[in-house]
Amino acid sequence: MFATTCGWCHSDGGRAAGKGPQLMDSKRDDDFIRNRIKNGKEGAMPAFGATFSDAEIDEITKYIRALKPHEG
Ligand code: HEC
Repeated sequence: MFATTCGWCHSDGGRAAGKGPQLMDSKRDDDFIRNRIKNGKEGAMPAFGATFSDAEIDEITKYIRALKPHEG
């Protein structure tokens, strides 16, 4: 889901920068991440508040937190 919805801007599942910044190891807090997904950023990132429920946005935030570099 992340790959198709977010991956064309946040490359490699969020591990690398693309059109958007790398998300892995983000220094932002959970509230910031949730807000960014929900409301987007004008001229940079679309808002997903109408696409995802709050529960789904929580799941995406957990996914971003759990990102690890590829092994090997
Ligand atoms: C059209 C390209 C695009 C898509 C699609 C996109 N993003 Fe972004 N995203 C960006 C850009 C550009 C930024 C940087 C905005 C800024 O300047 O603060 C960003 C920033 C973020 C940030 C904040 C990172 C930080 O440290 O400031 C998060 C979290 C994020 N995106 C998550 C997602 C998620 C989750 C999805 C999929 C549901 C997604 N993005 C889809 C372009 C995109």
